[in-house]
Amino acid sequence: MRIDIITVVPDLLKSPFEASILQRAIKKGLVEVHLHNLRDYTDDNYKQVDDYQFGGGAGMVMMIEPIDKCITKLKSERNYDEVIYMTPDGETLNQKTANKLSLLENIIILCGHYKGVDQRVRDHFITREISIGDYVLSGGELGAAVLCDAVIRLIPGVLGNETSALTDSFQDNLLAPPVYTRPAEYKGWEVPEILTSGNLPKIEEWREEQAMERTRRLRPDIFEQE
Ligand code: ADE
Repeated sequence: MRIDIITVVPDLLKSPFEASILQRAIKKGLVEVHLHNLRDYTDDNYKQVDDYQFGGGAGMVMMIEPIDKCITKLKSERNYDEVIYMTPDGETLNQKTANKLSLLENIIILCGHYKGVDQRVRDHFITREISIGDYVLSGGELGAAVLCDAVIRLIPGVLGNETSALTDSFQDNLLAPPVYTRPAEYKGWEVPEILTSGNLPKIEEWREEQAMERTRRLRPDIFEQE
């Protein structure tokens, strides 16, 4: 998979890909992440990427021209499955969307800033708009990092144990069951006996029950998602 991220603050997006699982996925050649500084697609000395909004009002708007130049150049080099715009008014990211995106070959992610982008960018270039939650960030970069993390870890081979993504919370519209490790008793707090019994079918049954119970109690809404 190849991910091209268009941003005015590339520095914000460096460290997430320089550590841990994402770094390993890149080193293994399972994903390529390319950062594009929007200012490199301007012609003027000021490298202007934003301007006042027509009709007046507070806040700058990202201009269409540098974005067009960047996206058009990328599209001349390869086909893209999606051109995603990170914005608080997009569809809220969930595990189902992450699963779908993890199957794609090439995606572009455009990070919004200021008041957002000129609507014509959204109308003519963007195929999907994603929010990471109902709150406003200073820009789309941290949202893009969250999206990339959620997607990249699902690419086959990225996680050491292939099955571990399958047992994540949300994968079956269920929260994950509780997990424990050694010691079996700490300050009198004990691990549920079933987990040290060695009875694998019973352990599996217990985990399913726990997942159901936690989901019903903590997130009854996700039972209703398709
Ligand atoms: N940009 C600003 N706020 C955002 C959000 N909640 N999700 C995605 N991109 C954003």
